[in-house]
Amino acid sequence: METDVITIDGPTSSGKNSVGFLLAKKLGYQYIDTGMIYRAGAYLILQNNISLDNKEDIVNTFKSLRLEIKSDNGSLRIYNNGRDLTDKLHLSEVTENVSIVAAIKEVREVTKVIQRKLGESKNTVMTGRDIGSEIFPNAKHKFFLTASAEIRVKRRFKQLIKVDPAITYEMVYKSMLERDEKDSTREVSPLRIPKGAVVIDNSNLNVEQTVEEMLKHIQQKLFI
Ligand code: DC
Repeated sequence: METDVITIDGPTSSGKNSVGFLLAKKLGYQYIDTGMIYRAGAYLILQNNISLDNKEDIVNTFKSLRLEIKSDNGSLRIYNNGRDLTDKLHLSEVTENVSIVAAIKEVREVTKVIQRKLGESKNTVMTGRDIGSEIFPNAKHKFFLTASAEIRVKRRFKQLIKVDPAITYEMVYKSMLERDEKDSTREVSPLRIPKGAVVIDNSNLNVEQTVEEMLKHIQQKLFI
């Protein structure tokens, strides 16, 4: 039987992950945050001192991934060959370099296979940058989440200040906009609104309200 995949794309701190997690919980679907795959690969590349110019070793690192993503106590954990990498994914060097790795065409060919396998195994809510456009273009329910840059920076700042008291609002603003710019202007699979996606601006909505809005669209489509 074909599985149902609900795609959610959007820029950094658009709320994709909290919304994806809750929506999946309400529907009894698995939740996959594809940013974790790029971050896990980027972490291993940095840990193995692979130069960011060394495309061959970067692609081979992605090819060697044996990932498992599991829901645990209200959040996701990612394992590679049984090793839990979750706590490494948001190290600043990973966040700073992940966009470079994610822009490589051959890396995206490998991750496409990983993402399709995950989505074809169970009913899934999947978040990312190109899920509704490249990975599951025929998905019945596609969403594009966004919020104003100011709100997104505030959300990100609130998360980061907990782990790094030296961080400033201006630093977060600059790095977030730079990453968005890289993700939106890259040649391969840039961040864009997928064809047929419902756009939700959640600048003034909390996680619950955003999910309610999405569920309304999903219900409507079921009765068309
Ligand atoms: O959502 P995130 O910040 O954890 O994603 C990390 C990086 O991975 C982000 O800079 C863009 C990239 N990414 C991507 O290119 N395609 C995806 N489907 C998910 C993430």
